[in-house]
Amino acid sequence: MYDHPFQWGSKRTGPDLARVGNRYSNEWHVQHLVEPRSVVPESVMPSYSFLRSTDLDIRSFSVKATLSANRAVGVPYTDAMMENAEVDLKAQADPNADTSGLLERYPKAKVGDFDGNPTRLTEMDALVAYLQMLGTLVDFSTYDDATGYR
Ligand code: HEM
Repeated sequence: MYDHPFQWGSKRTGPDLARVGNRYSNEWHVQHLVEPRSVVPESVMPSYSFLRSTDLDIRSFSVKATLSANRAVGVPYTDAMMENAEVDLKAQADPNADTSGLLERYPKAKVGDFDGNPTRLTEMDALVAYLQMLGTLVDFSTYDDATGYR
């Protein structure tokens, strides 16, 4: 909903992922990203198996600064979200973490292990968590189906 920059482009291979959140299980996404043809035989999508073995490098960037930049272009992050950005990021994919604060700040957040390996925080965790959110923050019930407008 708040992607910045919006993904411009005229070349499109593969389906629109704007509403893919909740459509498949975490396991399906991991399997599909590791070996797309094992779940969709005719797929031309490349394998992204390295995501599962690559630790998410949260030391190389400031999570808070990223939220701050997004807030500057209109994403409604609160001060509490900014203050807890790094704690929330780590708690989201840690099955043993106390996620009460996180869920207070982000009631629709998906929490838990995403990549099938609860002992590591990997790029696969981050990507699957992102995919599972896509389209889930928009309230389509208030849209007019015919026009797309409220
Ligand atoms: C990290 C980058 C990528 C992600 C996260 C991703 C994710 C996905 C997801 C979630 C689907 C299932 C969509 C659905 O069934 O509604 C899909 C399908 C597809 N993607 Fe990707 N994709 C990536 C890169 C690519 C690339 C580079 C290509 C083309 C060269 C591609 C081509 C396709 C195609 C043809 C499909 C339909 C067949 C299938 O389900 O495998 N994707 N992708």
